[in-house]
Amino acid sequence: RRKIIIDTDPGQDDAAAIMLALASPELHVLAITAVAGNVPLARTSLNASIVLEICGRPDIPVYAGCERPLRRQLVTAEHVHGKTGLDGIELFEPAVARQAGHAVDFIIDTIRSEPEAAVTLCALGPLTNIATALEFAPDIAGRLAEIVLMGGGYFEGGNITPAAEFNIFVDPEAAAIVFASGVKLTMMPLDVTHKVLTTAARCARLRSVGNRPAIAMAGMLAFFERFDEEKYGTDGGPLHDPTVIAWLLRPDLFTGRQCNVEIETVSELTRGATVVDWWRVTGRPANAFVAGDIDADGFFDLFIERVARL
Ligand code: BDR
Ligand code: CA
Repeated sequence: RRKIIIDTDPGQDDAAAIMLALASPELHVLAITAVAGNVPLARTSLNASIVLEICGRPDIPVYAGCERPLRRQLVTAEHVHGKTGLDGIELFEPAVARQAGHAVDFIIDTIRSEPEAAVTLCALGPLTNIATALEFAPDIAGRLAEIVLMGGGYFEGGNITPAAEFNIFVDPEAAAIVFASGVKLTMMPLDVTHKVLTTAARCARLRSVGNRPAIAMAGMLAFFERFDEEKYGTDGGPLHDPTVIAWLLRPDLFTGRQCNVEIETVSELTRGATVVDWWRVTGRPANAFVAGDIDADGFFDLFIERVARL
């Protein structure tokens, strides 16, 4: 079983990713580390515990991490996720409190104590925790199996500015550290995640699974998708973050290529843009596998089949 740490800012689509991971026997979720992003840290860490409890896994530890980006003010996304970050269901106070330690310490200590190449980091929010860990403990770069992250875009443009995707925009300096770290990277950009739409038919199938996680997820998605539906007229909203977990389970659902990716940190206009050398015009060495396409029906078959096991 592959050992993973999920670094996340739940977020309804983050919650879907956590569910998919918990439902998958191929994966061993060591912990959830929360970061500020969609909503402030107090809320993302609480939301992580709520999702674990909905899935019947309060035994998995939750650590809270960085409260703000490395060098910027926090930008949040309540306009998409609602005031709580998990709008769409009745929220509750989780029975199990989060751990006392800091997420960055947990990440460093775990990667050092586990065998080399044993731990994969799944990054579903701004990269602040992971970049901070790499800065404090550069030795962990050589010990990680890989980092799989949701962020950025290339032909698709941005979703928070015309140039930038939210996770990279919020903490571009952190993203630059991660992309320069030399760790094996896989990137799930908007070009892929915008194809993973929570259509009415897919949501109905999910709801009909009938267990607590499926019903909760259907409720969350009914709220989450209204942003894109109202603004862009799509059938459903883009289920970004679970693509990271799906990649670990079923890489055959994806295509993509090895590319050089650089992060814009200087310009205010294009802050957080991911400059992806898709056509290999620069000669700069590849530093990431960038996903280019996904079998969205195959993804939803997997997602629904797995949530039914919870
Ligand atoms: C990313 O930003 C967040 O709103 C989502 O949870 C996802 O991680 C998409 O741009
Ligand atoms: Ca997220």
